[in-house]
Amino acid sequence: MLVLGIESSCDETAASVVRDGVDVLSNVIASQHDLHAEYAGVVPEIASRAHVEKILPVIRDALRDAGVNLEQIDAISVGNRPGLIGALLVGVSAAKALAWSLAKPLVGVDHVVAHLYAPLLRRDTTQAAARDLYPALGLVVSGGHTAIYRCESATRIVRLGSTIDDAIGECYDKAATILGLGHPGGPKVDKLAQSGNERAFDFPISRLESGSLDFSFSGLKTAVLYAVRGVPQASPRRKPEESTKRAEPLDLAKPGVLPDVCASLQRAAVAAVVLKLERALEAWTGDPPRTLLVGGGVSANSRLRSELTALGQRRGLRIMLPAMEFCLDNAAMIAGLGYARLAGGEADDLHLAAAPSGSRGA
Ligand code: KG4
Ligand code: ZN
Repeated sequence: MLVLGIESSCDETAASVVRDGVDVLSNVIASQHDLHAEYAGVVPEIASRAHVEKILPVIRDALRDAGVNLEQIDAISVGNRPGLIGALLVGVSAAKALAWSLAKPLVGVDHVVAHLYAPLLRRDTTQAAARDLYPALGLVVSGGHTAIYRCESATRIVRLGSTIDDAIGECYDKAATILGLGHPGGPKVDKLAQSGNERAFDFPISRLESGSLDFSFSGLKTAVLYAVRGVPQASPRRKPEESTKRAEPLDLAKPGVLPDVCASLQRAAVAAVVLKLERALEAWTGDPPRTLLVGGGVSANSRLRSELTALGQRRGLRIMLPAMEFCLDNAAMIAGLGYARLAGGEADDLHLAAAPSGSRGA
């Protein structure tokens, strides 16, 4: 079965053709990063307009790359929640128009849940298909979401905890802006961190109350801000080496300073994620999880990937990380999850609505 996936929830316009829910025949992504860079964040109106311009060329490219025509597509899947309402409407309208004109089934999927499907996708059909995955512990780490899930199947998912303030990717991006690295800064922080000293700054590892599976990243972002710009009300007489509470700004141009801040930030951010996963494993009831399914833009992070691999070895848990091309927002994961819904006998009709907030419980 060939499913055409369409994604337009934030600042990527994407389309993809996936066979039988796992074999990715094409994965086209038009990013709007350049359009939003000068604002250091996504501007909703600019995003919607860019989606309108890109949606048809991107769908056309996805069909061309897959070597198929519209008549060969069996169903249309679209990310219809959560996201920016104007941006979502573009993808949902295109998906409805295609489904109606081709008389093919239409299915809407939750973008965040689709990130948990990304590790199941493959480009290479000689690679074994992922089996025996559930029950699974799920982790989504992205620019808009940070959450832990209990997954009974690709479509039966319950959220166990999520961020109470900033998402982890948002923390990376805002820290990158404070450091003058541009937007989105996650990949830049990751790269610089590799040559830095992770103990140079003692940034806080957010724990919240004992047993909590929620996250908080705004404290870490503020700690980076104070480290870089100096702490308001700190004594200006105190020498920098005497305390981390300096009033003076850091000299980011000094060799090694930027990599040190990035490495220390990365250590604290990733440690907070691993801590919550450990807690989720401790609190797990019923059949133990067979895998950890990971998704979202920050799953491309080098340190997170290596720490999760180490967690898997410690806990005897199979760690399912997405291939790099499926970490960031993409439509292959939308097509894959759409296939899973259709295979379970679920579908939507032309009343499918775009919804800025996510599914209940997910
Ligand atoms: O999943 P995604 O494309 O969009 C959302 O659904 O939010 O994630 C984008 C986020 C951005 O915050 C970006 O800075 C972050 O993923 N990101 C990274 C890395 N690559 C992308 N963060 C840390 N390290 C990376 N290597
Ligand atoms: Zn996403």
